[in-house]
Amino acid sequence: MRHLLRRKARLCNPSMLARSQIVGCGAYLPERIVTNIELAARLDTSDEWIRQRTGIGERRIAANGELTSDLALRAAQRALADAGTSGSDVDLIVLATATPDNTFPATAAKVQAQLGMSHGAAFDVQAVCAGFIFALGIADNALRLGQARTALVIGAETFSRILDWEDRGTCVLFGDGAGALVLKAVPDPGSRGRGVLSTHLHSDGRQYDILYVDGGPSSTRHSGHLRMEGREVFRQAVQHLSEVVDEALAANGFNAADIDWLVPHQANSRIIDGVARKLGLSAGKIVSTIERHANTSAASIPLALATAVADGRIRPGHLVLLEALGGGLSWGASMLRW
Ligand code: UT7
Repeated sequence: MRHLLRRKARLCNPSMLARSQIVGCGAYLPERIVTNIELAARLDTSDEWIRQRTGIGERRIAANGELTSDLALRAAQRALADAGTSGSDVDLIVLATATPDNTFPATAAKVQAQLGMSHGAAFDVQAVCAGFIFALGIADNALRLGQARTALVIGAETFSRILDWEDRGTCVLFGDGAGALVLKAVPDPGSRGRGVLSTHLHSDGRQYDILYVDGGPSSTRHSGHLRMEGREVFRQAVQHLSEVVDEALAANGFNAADIDWLVPHQANSRIIDGVARKLGLSAGKIVSTIERHANTSAASIPLALATAVADGRIRPGHLVLLEALGGGLSWGASMLRW
């Protein structure tokens, strides 16, 4: 009872709110590499077309029997090791995926058990390619409000399982992978401004049909294949992402020049360049992994973060802006002080 009252007092007193600090980062890619050239051997496409139109050179494909939860677990373990902590410290898992192991329970529940975490909450978030931003926003809110102390935010996908491998317009674009962040609630004055500064989420359900999977338990009873009006998604992506990036900058009183790194969802290098051009951001400030990872949906941002942290580009104190758009349509941005 006393515990509940203490929590209530914390929720009612904004000066006692915490901030979510990023204390660990990790990623995992399946071993098998599929190059454009390999795809061109069995599909009416070419390495040149794929590179010029998307920036993609290769993608990873999960092995038979390797599930989204397997990728998520490996990424989570690496993020926990990076944070110097273990699953038993975690009291919240928010896992972004559009390719869960099963329709239910949540893939996060499987990861929770495999990490040896028996308390707290674990659930999935479904906002497709924008999923990681949505998951981060939800976890950040829970930490700020004292509902959890240590959160794992995971993006994990096996899109290879929902692709129509005869459709050259979509199957060349995606890959499998996972990435994770560990967030800890720290008292705001002690955080020196580091952590999640703000998250901005949007959806427009009127655009449901321009990027969707033509199956599901309630409609066709089979999982279906990804379908996309690529040109229209492209047009809306540049527009919405530019707007939400401006929204995130304005909310924090920053200009584009203040950003150290833009870490965008890796769907198409021309979308990334279009948003960067509107922002007036130089190519040297963009983390791009699309050439090697392709579009891994909810995993693309944490995979790119882990890459840039591991190679020393993103360092403590850097201002990092994340942005993504996916099916729904759903899109968002998050401003971080690393
Ligand atoms: O992550 C979720 C959000 N998703 C996105 O942001 C994806 C957004 N859209 C895109 O990235 C691009 O629209 C695509 C990469 C999907 C397509 O590029 P595009 O420049 O918009 O090409 P298009 O769809 O307009 O197709 C141009 C031509 C067509 O041929 P015709 O009709 O001009 O003769 C396509 O049939 O390219 C053809 N084409 C291909 N050719 C070779 C489409 N896919 C391929 C292919 N190889 N794989």
